[in-house]
Amino acid sequence: MNIIITGASSGLGAELAKYYSHEATTLHLIARRKDRLIELKNSLKCEVKIYVVDVSDFKNLEKTITTIVKNSDYIDMVIANAGVSLGHNSEFCEFENFKKLFDINFLSIHALLTPIIPKMQLQHSGKIVIISSLASIITMPSSIAYSTSKRALNSYCEGVRNLVAPDGVEVINILPGFIKSEMTDKNSFKMPFLLETSEGVKRIVNAIKCSKKEYKFPKRFYIFIKLVSLLPLSLKDRVIQTMHKKK
Ligand SMILES: NC(=O)c1ccc[n+]([C@@H]2O[C@H](COP(=O)([O-])OP(=O)(O)OC[C@H]3O[C@@H](n4cnc5c(N)ncnc54)[C@H](OP(=O)(O)O)[C@@H]3O)[C@@H](O)[C@H]2O)c1
Repeated sequence: MNIIITGASSGLGAELAKYYSHEATTLHLIARRKDRLIELKNSLKCEVKIYVVDVSDFKNLEKTITTIVKNSDYIDMVIANAGVSLGHNSEFCEFENFKKLFDINFLSIHALLTPIIPKMQLQHSGKIVIISSLASIITMPSSIAYSTSKRALNSYCEGVRNLVAPDGVEVINILPGFIKSEMTDKNSFKMPFLLETSEGVKRIVNAIKCSKKEYKFPKRFYIFIKLVSLLPLSLKDRVIQTMHKKK
């Protein structure tokens, strides 16, 4: 098996790498922090190749992935997990920060998949896993860039899923709620239904195994967010403003 994971140096990505090290012949792990990738590689039993790449350096990312694809008979799965948040604050986001976040959370996914999709189409198989977020369903005023980037990802997934389905390639969109990681460690507010990293990853792995097209969890948090999203606009805005004030 050949599995590519972006954002493997911490949090969900590192935990996913640990899980798949028991199944994968070769793991291809991508992130910026070399020391973390080396530490992870040394702790795993399978063959691990590490690539110190900033996913927002699209040319370098595409070049790296093209080389992996060329040197592999088969790509079984890619997990597009690398992502950042700008935290939660009430100030209107500066353009440069907004752009940087969009480059990492959204545009890099297309650079990542550009060399992989034709390979999977030729193979007539392969899984493309995208890590979106429940934050894509409603947009809080405190995290406009993050929610917007993840909602764009949902839309992207929908198109790609139906493009590659006839070729036997699966697209799995994962929408987690709060899970313990370096990203959520920065949040000072109380995070509802916060899951341990291992529990979050267990659920993600199961969704991948079951080839769920979309997996939103934890269920109760998803239902709450979905209900808010379905409210008439003026009521929905009042609920969002009240939740925003509480943070
Ligand atoms: N934790 C949650 O509650 C939660 C909920 C919903 C969705 N998610 C999503 O889950 C994914 C993983 O996040 P996490 O919670 O595990 O946070 P995390 O521990 O901060 O992990 C983020 C990973 O992304 C990598 N990354 C960030 N910017 C990168 C860049 N420019 N180039 C390459 N790699 C980059 C980081 O590695 P380097 O810094 O070494 O580059 C790190 O390995 C993200 O897409 C996040 O949006 C998380």
